[in-house]
Amino acid sequence: MGGRKSSLANLAWLMATGTLMMVVRAEDPYIFFTWNVTYGTISPIGVPQQAILINGQFPGPNINSTTNNNIVVNVFNNLDEPLLFSWNGVQQRKNSWQDGVAGTNCPIMPGTNYTYHFQVKDQIGSYYYYPSLGMQKAVGGFGGLRINSRLLIPVPFADPEDDYTVLIGDWYTKSHTSMKKLLDSGRSLGRPAGVLINGKSGKDEKEPLFTMKAGETYRYRICNVGLKNSLNFRIQGHTMKLVEIEGSHTVQNAYKWLDVHLGQCYSVLVTADQSPKDYYMVHQVRSERYGHHPLRKWKGPSISGSPPAPEGVAWSLNQFRTFRWNLTASAARPNPQGSYHYGSINITRTIKIANSASTVGGKLRYAINGASHEDSDTPLKLAEYYGVQDKVFKYNTIADEPPAHDNITKQPVVINAIFRNFVEIIFENPEKSIQSWHLDGYSFFPVAIEAGTWSPEKRKNYNLLDAVSRYTIQVYPKSWAAVMLTLDNAGMWNLRSESWERRYLGQQLYISVLSPARSLRDEYNLPDTAPLCGIVKDLPKPAPYTI
Ligand SMILES: *[C@@H]1O[C@H](CO)[C@@H](O)[C@H](O)[C@H]1NC(C)=O
Ligand SMILES: *[C@@H]1O[C@H](CO)[C@@H](O)[C@H](O)[C@H]1NC(C)=O
Ligand SMILES: *[C@@H]1O[C@H](CO)[C@@H](O)[C@H](O)[C@H]1NC(C)=O
Ligand SMILES: *[C@@H]1O[C@H](CO)[C@@H](O)[C@H](O)[C@H]1NC(C)=O
Ligand SMILES: *[C@@H]1O[C@H](CO)[C@@H](O)[C@H](O)[C@H]1NC(C)=O
Ligand SMILES: *[C@@H]1O[C@H](CO)[C@@H](O)[C@H](O)[C@H]1NC(C)=O
Repeated sequence: MGGRKSSLANLAWLMATGTLMMVVRAEDPYIFFTWNVTYGTISPIGVPQQAILINGQFPGPNINSTTNNNIVVNVFNNLDEPLLFSWNGVQQRKNSWQDGVAGTNCPIMPGTNYTYHFQVKDQIGSYYYYPSLGMQKAVGGFGGLRINSRLLIPVPFADPEDDYTVLIGDWYTKSHTSMKKLLDSGRSLGRPAGVLINGKSGKDEKEPLFTMKAGETYRYRICNVGLKNSLNFRIQGHTMKLVEIEGSHTVQNAYKWLDVHLGQCYSVLVTADQSPKDYYMVHQVRSERYGHHPLRKWKGPSISGSPPAPEGVAWSLNQFRTFRWNLTASAARPNPQGSYHYGSINITRTIKIANSASTVGGKLRYAINGASHEDSDTPLKLAEYYGVQDKVFKYNTIADEPPAHDNITKQPVVINAIFRNFVEIIFENPEKSIQSWHLDGYSFFPVAIEAGTWSPEKRKNYNLLDAVSRYTIQVYPKSWAAVMLTLDNAGMWNLRSESWERRYLGQQLYISVLSPARSLRDEYNLPDTAPLCGIVKDLPKPAPYTI
């Protein structure tokens, strides 16, 4: 119903501006950034350590944009190793060239610069960027990215007094190179040393993180940029009204606690309706095995009378089920047809994937359906564009069903998908640890999370009406989650575990969505400035896509 209302409004708008049809459409605005990426020393939990800084800052600068803006970021790599930035949740329509992961781009080499250029097309909401190679994200280089609604588009809540980005995450004091060595040697990262909020641990902090004026309402955009743990977030003495999850306006329920899993972002409104004093932002780490182990205690300010977060999978799962898309709120949407009617589209393919942990050659590896992803020297997307994919990877490395055995093979893992297919992805988690999955290039509808194993009858319980279109989904221990989406964005897209050691050790893959048309209507050409590497370095450029 809401959909119909909204498209009527659109239509009226089109008719009103119909007389302007002959005027050349102005290009969407550009916003420019220059980033100098360097190492620097920080001591967020009292121990000096090497971090990755952007223009001297940790976390990096916020990108504040508006729907359809063109974002141009000239990145100077002054590290001693290759670098790529990825824009978590930004869909990069037709443009996996700007996605900045090892499967799509050759890295920016030390001492060189590269200019990302992408449009935040038809999106709104809360996102973040991060350095995608190796374990670099563990030591900084990340920052908030927000996309405001255009002025003409009503937002389903009053303008807040201010709008704050809150990047939370577990934190290690090891360098990213020593973490890499640890993982390469087949060991695990172990426990983090603490939790940071916007680069601070609360230890020895004198300045408040944020100030609120009495009676005013503020927006907080909370993203978990950590490596390993789900976090339970709360603001002492205040309730949080949820308004947006990862690019979708939600039904506005009030929460005392929010579980924020790895890679997820939530926007809440908080009104300063308590007596003026200092209040703490409280994060409690969910133990890896989630419900059955006590929450760990962390260094940081102790809060007298602070109630512990509710424990248990059931509590968290119930909270997930209260998240609903506000169908009547207007907002830019990348795929209006798919988004209003996702419940009535026939599924053309079901991809069932299960995560697993095992060893290869005596070393710990993580896998999806028995295959543990390894990056290739030639990015998968470039190999495909140049037509030399046979030398780099095999399509459909894994089946759409988890195998019956536990054996793991190491190779680049690529699923070959059909452009515009409507697919259902089932994430099965047979392990005892919680999982968090992210797909680049898309938002999806998480239609169900349940305990146990999935079977086709479970479709009867799907939320086919108002699931929140988003880009990350958690899967509880010994549980499954189902998401649905239309593969209408051509490109090579990373599907990954947001647990950074799992991803690093192979729990990720790529979905190749090829448009047979080789047309600019479906996909942009490789930018002339893109660095080349591997076997495509000296090959002649393929004929460009045309209209
Ligand atoms: C980047 O920062 C480093 C260290 O502060 C400095 O030496 C270098 O000149 C800067 N480069 C640019 C392009 O600003
Ligand atoms: C972000 O951009 C919006 C829209 O241009 C503007 O109103 C707002 O003040 C900006 N916020 C910050 C923190 O720059
Ligand atoms: C590198 O930076 C310079 C400006 O300092 C810019 O003119 C050039 O286009 C950049 N190169 C790339 C590949 O983005
Ligand atoms: C949904 O959005 C509409 C339109 O902005 C708003 O009036 C309504 O209060 C919102 N509904 C809920 C349940 O949050
Ligand atoms: C979906 O599938 C059903 C049953 O196979 C069929 O009757 C229906 O026409 C299909 N709908 C669309 C939109 O293709
Ligand atoms: C799994 O690995 C074992 C030991 O290497 C081997 O004997 C067995 O044949 C493998 N099974 C499959 C299905 O590949």
